[in-house]
Amino acid sequence: MITVMGATGNTGRKLTELLLGAGEEVRALGRSPEKLAELAVLGATTVAGDVRDADHLARAFAGADAVYTLTAFDPTLPDYHADQDRRGEAIASAIRESGVRHVVALSSIGAQLAAGNGIIASLHRQEQRLRTLTGVDVLLLRPGAFFEGFYSALGTIRHEGVVADSVAPDVKVPMIATADIAVAAAGALRARDWSGVVVRELIGQDLTYAEVTATIGRAIGRPDLRYVQLPDEALAAILTQSAGFSPDFTAQFIEFNQALSAGRLRPTEGSATPTRFEEFAAMLAAAYAAMG
Ligand SMILES: NC(=O)c1ccc[n+]([C@@H]2O[C@H](COP(=O)([O-])OP(=O)(O)OC[C@H]3O[C@@H](n4cnc5c(N)ncnc54)[C@H](OP(=O)(O)O)[C@@H]3O)[C@@H](O)[C@H]2O)c1
Repeated sequence: MITVMGATGNTGRKLTELLLGAGEEVRALGRSPEKLAELAVLGATTVAGDVRDADHLARAFAGADAVYTLTAFDPTLPDYHADQDRRGEAIASAIRESGVRHVVALSSIGAQLAAGNGIIASLHRQEQRLRTLTGVDVLLLRPGAFFEGFYSALGTIRHEGVVADSVAPDVKVPMIATADIAVAAAGALRARDWSGVVVRELIGQDLTYAEVTATIGRAIGRPDLRYVQLPDEALAAILTQSAGFSPDFTAQFIEFNQALSAGRLRPTEGSATPTRFEEFAAMLAAAYAAMG
């Protein structure tokens, strides 16, 4: 049996579907019973609850041959890293309590750095926490930025006619489709063929924001679509005033963008995953068309 955290999210849902499709028994975790019900229909055992509760999580890990862990985030919270640390400590405690022996943990590109990487700093600490576990084989997945992040650009494209962010337009950023993360995680959770602590970087493509914008423009029938690099202060104002992000999360996000722009969040080795942004852009285009 394999326990999947965040089973109703980007990576967890696709992972759960892959595992069930391969005939595995899956315990799918989330907080929304309604969303989890869709996975129960597919054959998963579902467990709703708050994963910041270490006892709840230990029960959800108990008896599993392997677990998929992630630290979901809420951008509205006043102290982002404190919440991430709480989630990370609950995961480490639940692994110890349950005795699970194989862990595939979602981390990120840039988690090799302790600081200067904004929102990724607490993923570095989570990797350190997982490294201290004894008798547990831990695979740390370090994917690039998710292609899915560009869904949030569609509203600005619709209303302002541009893609706008604070990342430098011409710097290569490692990116990936979450479907490819799910494939890598499913393979590892089933095979359990590594030992000790292993880091695996997952990168689909190295793309600039200008290149991404051009591809989105072609996909949605607006070949003149432009990328606009916003000053940090302008992006911060949008994130806090329009998107409802807390000032703390916004500051961490902007530092992350600065690190991307400075080329500090580069893969050290990289492992190529198959999905191209051109293919993914077809899904963005469908979502854009559905906006009316
Ligand atoms: N976005 C990127 O570009 C990127 C790149 C590299 C790494 N990452 C990392 O990826 C991770 C997020 O993974 P994801 O995108 O697959 O997840 P996601 O789509 O953000 O979904 C989060 C999942 O966790 C569940 N959840 C959230 N809070 C919970 C709580 N308190 N108790 C129980 N369940 C809870 C959600 O349930 P509900 O559906 O009920 O809300 C959902 O299933 C983060 O650690 C992030 O740093 C992201």
